[in-house]
Amino acid sequence: MVSVNFGRSRQNDVYTAGVHGRTPTVPADFAELERRARAKMSRRAWAYIAGGAGEGRTMTANRRALDSWAIVPRVLRDVSERSLQTELFGQTLSAPVLFAPVGAGALAYPDADVHIGRAAAELGVPYIFSNQGCAPMEGVADAMEAVKPGAPRWFQLYWSTDDRLVDSLIRRAETMGAAALTVTLDTTMLGWRPQDLNLGSLPFARAEGIDQYTSDPSFWEIVAERMRDAASTGETAKQEVSLGAIKTLLSIVRNMPELSGILSTGRKGRSTGLKGRSSGLKERVTKGPAAVQTFLDIYSRPSLDWDDIASLREKTTLPIVLKGILHPDDARTAVELGIDGIIVSNHGGRQIDGEISSTDALVDVVDAVGEEDVKILIDSGFYTGSDVFKALALGADAVCIGRPHMYGLALNGADGARDAVANILAELDLTLGLSGHTSVADLDRSALKHLP
Ligand SMILES: Cc1cc2nc3c(=O)[nH]c(=O)nc-3n(C[C@H](O)[C@H](O)[C@H](O)COP(=O)(O)O)c2cc1C
Repeated sequence: MVSVNFGRSRQNDVYTAGVHGRTPTVPADFAELERRARAKMSRRAWAYIAGGAGEGRTMTANRRALDSWAIVPRVLRDVSERSLQTELFGQTLSAPVLFAPVGAGALAYPDADVHIGRAAAELGVPYIFSNQGCAPMEGVADAMEAVKPGAPRWFQLYWSTDDRLVDSLIRRAETMGAAALTVTLDTTMLGWRPQDLNLGSLPFARAEGIDQYTSDPSFWEIVAERMRDAASTGETAKQEVSLGAIKTLLSIVRNMPELSGILSTGRKGRSTGLKGRSSGLKERVTKGPAAVQTFLDIYSRPSLDWDDIASLREKTTLPIVLKGILHPDDARTAVELGIDGIIVSNHGGRQIDGEISSTDALVDVVDAVGEEDVKILIDSGFYTGSDVFKALALGADAVCIGRPHMYGLALNGADGARDAVANILAELDLTLGLSGHTSVADLDRSALKHLP
């Protein structure tokens, strides 16, 4: 849990361990964290997780925009008692930070989502489960409950072309205790990602990151329907047989325990609610690829528009948070529709090359709707406590952290994911105090100066 005056207690822990000759597994700065995580990961994992759109210019813009704001400290204010506590949608969080939804995390560490869930629960901040998770949401929620009953969690939805699946995922999110529903708007198609393209690597094609689908009864109905249609029209796709194709097939079968019967042998952290669906070899090698193809065909809907978003209110009573808003007019429309929150995000620079930085967009969005009854969150490139401080001072209510927790995870599982975010929170606490503040609620633009 994040204690009062968290920065100092974390420094004490680290320096005390140092007296005994122990140094932290998760480095305290982002550059070293990234370097060590890269050394641990496969090429495919690194390409998918660290990679960005095009030439990486949006990632550079994210950094530049943050660096264009400087913190201007005030001195001689009593800052001996500080708190990072924040409230979001009726839940008290130990800090204004969330674990961003990150798909295909098992590329970095087995059962990634379960470990990240435990990390978030230990820190007392929400984990937004990805629609592209590597474990069914119910299993992750159980793992978080085991750490701390009521540990906050949200669900992130990619709006499929099939509304039966959308409805089912929303129902499941409500049942597993999601405190909010995030709908990601910026990924109705995957961006142009050269790092993955150069390796010909799409994790989902190997059934990495499609567990929310393969644990869903509606999804299997859709798969079965498509298989029946294909059989009745005689449209069975001819597959080229190659070593690569066989490896992919093996990966698909391995990543779908509900097909291979692994569940009934008790593999940890994979409760899908589909126990007993084990099947024979023939069924596995036909159903597995059919499921992957179905996913690739239906996972997201480029025709999504504001009417769909308006219709969400009839689908759920959960607070709705739109992720991927960058234009102030889109923020205004969201507010007009009564949306509860927005996440100013360029998806960590993974979708459009040369896009506006999330920090520059935040300034416009706060100017447009900052006075309205809507929570404003941000992500994309917030890697230190100082970065988070700037976002809060510019008017964000909370910040989602993406790659840092994935790098921590790669280094040391749940403890690593927790430590990577704990380091950010410790620095945030110290920056808060050293700049003359005692609460994150006190922050506003007067704490910053825009550099020419
Ligand atoms: C490997 C990876 C996978 C991601 N998967 C998803 C996802 O499934 N859904 C989603 O809404 N955003 C996804 N994102 C975007 C993150 O939620 C977040 O917007 C981004 O990581 C923030 O930028 P940062 O990594 O620089 O902190 C992903 C990001 C990464 C790095």
